[in-house]
Amino acid sequence: MRSEAHSGEWIDPARATLAPLAEREIVVLGYGSQGRAQALNLRDAGAGRRVRVWTRPEGPGARQAIADGFPLLGDDDLGCGDLYCCLLPDELHAEFLMRTLAPALTAAGREAELCFAHGFSLAFTPLGAAARRPPWREVFLVAPSGPGEDVRRARLAGGGVPAFLGVWHDASGEARQRAIGVATALGAFAAGVFATEVRTEAVVDLFGEQAVLCGGVSALLAAAFDTLVTAGYPPEMAYAECIQQLHLTVGLIERHGIAGMRARISPTARFGDLTRGPRIVGAATRSALRRVLEEIESGHFAHEWVEEQRRGAPRFAAAEREAVADPLEAAGREVRRRATRAVGDESRAGVGGGGDGPGKTGGEPPGGAPGAGSAAGENPVDS
Ligand SMILES: NC(=O)c1ccc[n+]([C@@H]2O[C@H](COP(=O)([O-])OP(=O)(O)OC[C@H]3O[C@@H](n4cnc5c(N)ncnc54)[C@H](OP(=O)(O)O)[C@@H]3O)[C@@H](O)[C@H]2O)c1
Repeated sequence: MRSEAHSGEWIDPARATLAPLAEREIVVLGYGSQGRAQALNLRDAGAGRRVRVWTRPEGPGARQAIADGFPLLGDDDLGCGDLYCCLLPDELHAEFLMRTLAPALTAAGREAELCFAHGFSLAFTPLGAAARRPPWREVFLVAPSGPGEDVRRARLAGGGVPAFLGVWHDASGEARQRAIGVATALGAFAAGVFATEVRTEAVVDLFGEQAVLCGGVSALLAAAFDTLVTAGYPPEMAYAECIQQLHLTVGLIERHGIAGMRARISPTARFGDLTRGPRIVGAATRSALRRVLEEIESGHFAHEWVEEQRRGAPRFAAAEREAVADPLEAAGREVRRRATRAVGDESRAGVGGGGDGPGKTGGEPPGGAPGAGSAAGENPVDS
C-alpha cells in the first residue's frame, strides 16, 4: 500500500477576518443541511454585499429559504455572483457546475470564486480539471466537521464547529484569504480551522464515515445485536446494551479521549475492552480498512457512487430497504419509546453528574483514579 505524508496545519485564529468577502455577491447553491446553515451564518456575519440562494424551485429547500427571508435566484440570474458556495449533493456538482453554472458565467462575461464543503467532486470527478480554468478564478474548500444543524446551532451559541480549509485553484493569489473569510463567517475559528490539501480532506472524510462514523459503527452494532439474539437473548436487551448506550461511550471519548473514557469505566469493562477489542478488530478488519482506504484513494469508490446514481441507484435503494427491515429496528423502537428523553439527556451530560457509562461506574473518577466511580448510575433504558 502506498504510504505518503499528507501535511496540514492549524490556522492562527488571529487571522480570522471577513475583509476578503467585502463587496462580494455571495450565492449559496442548495438549501439543505449545509446550505441553510451556511447561508444564515454568512448573512448574520454580514459577509459580502449580500447573500442570495439558488436551489431547485419545487423542493423543500426553496420553501425554507423563502421562509428564512432569502429571495431565490432564478436561472436567468444565476451568473450574477462573485462567490458561489456549492452546497448541492456531491454527485451533482460536476454536472451542474460544468453544464449550467460555468456557461451562465461565461455568457455573462464573468469570472467567479467557488467554495465547497467537501472535496469529493474536486478530487474524484471531471470537475477537478474543469475547476482549474475560467470562469473559475479561485476554487477552495471550507469543510465543516459536522452537519449543518451543528454549524448553525454552534454559531448561534457564539461558537462554531471546526473546519478543514484547502485551496484547489488560485488564479488571483487570494484564494486562501477568501477561504479564511468564509471560515470566519461560518464561525469555524471558534473551534479550529485546519489547512490541508483538498484531496486529503476528501479521502479522510470518506474514510472516516465509511470505516467508523457510519459504516463501521452501524455494521458492528448490527452484528453484535444479531450475535446476542441468535444466541437466544431478548432483542430488547441486545438493543439496549449494544446500541442504545453507545452515546455514553461516545460522550466520554468526546470529552476525555479514549484513555480518559477508560479511566471512567469499571475495571471489568476496561479489562474486557482491552483484551476483547483487539480480537474483534483483528487482522481481517485491519486488512478490510486498508482496502476501503485504497478504494477511496484510487477513485474506485467515487466512480462506483457516481455510476450507481447514474443508473437510478437500484443497489443503494435495495440496501436501504434491507437495513430498515432489520429486526434491530423494531427492538430499537420499543427501547426508545420507553427511554425518557430527560434521563437520556442527563446521561449524555452526566460525567461528574451521576450519568451512567458502560460498566455502570458513572461520574468523574475521584483524583482521576481509573474506574473509581460507584455503581450508582441510572440506566437510560430502564425507565
Ligand atoms: N450534511 C453534512 O453533514 C455535511 C457536512 C459537511 C459537508 N457536507 C457537504 O455539504 C454539501 C451539501 O450537502 P448537504 O448534506 O447539505 O446536502 P442536502 O442536505 O441533501 O441538501 C442538498 C440541497 O441541494 C438541493 N438539490 C438536490 N438535488 C438537486 C437538483 N437536482 N437540482 C438542484 N438542487 C438540488 C436540495 O434541494 P431540496 O431542498 O429541494 O431537496 C437541497 O437544497 C455536500 O458537498 C456535502 O458533502 C455535508
